Amino acid sequence: MDWNTLQESCLACKRCTLSETRTNVVFGVGRQDAEVLFVGEGPGQQEDLQGEPFVGRAGKLLDDMMAIIDLDRTNSFIANIVKCRPPGNRDPLPAEQEACTPWLDQQLAIIQPKIIVCLGRIAAMYMIGSDFKITRDHGQWFDRDGVRMMALFHPAALLRDPRKRPETFEDLKSLQREIREICTNTY
Ligand code: URA
Repeated sequence: MDWNTLQESCLACKRCTLSETRTNVVFGVGRQDAEVLFVGEGPGQQEDLQGEPFVGRAGKLLDDMMAIIDLDRTNSFIANIVKCRPPGNRDPLPAEQEACTPWLDQQLAIIQPKIIVCLGRIAAMYMIGSDFKITRDHGQWFDRDGVRMMALFHPAALLRDPRKRPETFEDLKSLQREIREICTNTY
């Protein structure tokens, strides 16, 4: 499937009941040939209204975190584990994740990123492993099918607990080193 067909089908998705309460499907933002791809958990209220990931308060912080290492929405890609807002911002249910992640898998197959950065526990458990512990394993590197993967604390967690920020700064520096080592595109 090509990108436009994938996007069209995804925007019409009714594979789970989140489709009944969503305003917009949040397909993702960025380059289709991105070398670095971020995966969050799922849209919140602002994302649901605007149809773009990470545009609320946590999104502003994500933009700032990315800017520290010269990344932005035009030289990377940002997606989520589920593409429709879970009501009240609850965690997406396992059945909702199972219904939705084939969309993410197809995006990954087209983009073929070199580095995947998981934002928070939910994304890391899907991408890296179901035994992932964010407090223990953030900032560590994993290889999955030839792709380098790591997780950062979710920006919303950093807003709730600013004491986690110094560790995240170290993780971002490690991400920057990895990008310098294996990424080639200058876009
Ligand atoms: N939190 C997420 O995990 N994803 C978004 O798109 C916004 C907030």
